[in-house]
Amino acid sequence: MKHLTAPSVLAADFANLQRDIEMLNRSQADWIHVDIMDGMFVPNISFGLPVVEAIKRYAAKPLDVHLMIVEPDRYLKAFADAGAAHITVHYEACTHLHRTIQAIKDLGCKAGVALNPHTPVALLEDIITDLDIVLIMSVNPGFGGQKFIPNTYKKIQQLKALSEVRNPDLFIEIDGGVNLQNAADLVTTGANVLVAGNFVFSSNDPVQTISSLHDITPTKFV
Ligand code: DX5
Ligand code: ZN
Repeated sequence: MKHLTAPSVLAADFANLQRDIEMLNRSQADWIHVDIMDGMFVPNISFGLPVVEAIKRYAAKPLDVHLMIVEPDRYLKAFADAGAAHITVHYEACTHLHRTIQAIKDLGCKAGVALNPHTPVALLEDIITDLDIVLIMSVNPGFGGQKFIPNTYKKIQQLKALSEVRNPDLFIEIDGGVNLQNAADLVTTGANVLVAGNFVFSSNDPVQTISSLHDITPTKFV
């Protein structure tokens, strides 16, 4: 599967959100990554439902909603109604993960699970066939602009091995500290969705930066 790019609007200019969404529409971005932080699951608050609805009014690409919130079941329908095409919840925030995943699918959305850097891939063994997306956090969630954690490569290898046997269509999404220095290695290792926030929005030409991420080809050796 050719990899996809999913710029994160967490790094957009919130005072010019319409402009930035229209830039993403013109770009080679495949998904628009939307980070929801509640100040409980993570120490930061990003934005909530009215902002997602506003993004949806202008977005021409699927909204890939990443819920960094406690008890996400309370808000699944609200995010689906606000325009989420994909809803990813954190493994660490879900006591009844199987039920949560079915609820997301019943809403007509693709269902994802995110793993914090300390959470082993092996814990997904009994849910992997139910998932559309696994998001591997390559930084500790809560903030954009952090440094990529290299142990992520091992987790991608493990997830790729699991998905080849049990769920070949799985999206393996990497989130945090992605840039042109690690993108080729990530894709070579098995990632097929690259989220990038600061690397895109802090660049001089975000459309071109997205194209560069889009155009990378797997390398032979990691
Ligand atoms: C971090 C968020 C990320 C963030 C990535 O908690 O989940 O999606 O926006 O930002 P960068 O690419 O700047 O690390
Ligand atoms: Zn995210």
